[in-house]
Amino acid sequence: MAGHVVDQLYEDHDRILEALDMLEKAVEGVEAGRVDPAVVLELIDFLSRFADHYHHGVEELLLFPALERRGVPLHGGPIGVMVCEHGMGRYMLRNARAAAERVRSGDRGAVAELKHYATSYRDLLVQHIDKENNVLFAMARDVIGEGELVEEARRVAEEHGREELLKRLGEIRARLGG
Ligand SMILES: [Fe+2]
Ligand SMILES: [Fe+2]
Repeated sequence: MAGHVVDQLYEDHDRILEALDMLEKAVEGVEAGRVDPAVVLELIDFLSRFADHYHHGVEELLLFPALERRGVPLHGGPIGVMVCEHGMGRYMLRNARAAAERVRSGDRGAVAELKHYATSYRDLLVQHIDKENNVLFAMARDVIGEGELVEEARRVAEEHGREELLKRLGEIRARLGG
């Protein structure tokens, strides 16, 4: 079963959306004093490794360059927009992490900042994933053949410990209570 390279990426999107929901709940919990800020930091760490390093890595090193080679332009098209949004997401996640670390060390004043960056990150990624699912990946299905880049994408997943990270996400979900 070779499948298409975007199959794995669609699946990643579902896991990322799940983690974003959990992040939103965890931040609300921190705000209400019910949840340990360490849980928020774990979710941020998951998103940084899974979404930013691994998933955006597959897109930026394998999928997007393949689309460029098939004539999809980097500038003035969806690829450039996607790459910019990956960068904006990294910025928001970094600042969410910095704010969460301040909250963990007792600075309640940083909760609002944490919420700001976590919410901005979620809003950005929800619409980003929507565009990829409905526009870019549909385009990729047309120009990239079945089985192409599938092994390469699997290798990147392995290098980044995709399965291990997903197991960890399950553990955080259990700690958050569902
Ligand atoms: Fe992306
Ligand atoms: Fe994506």
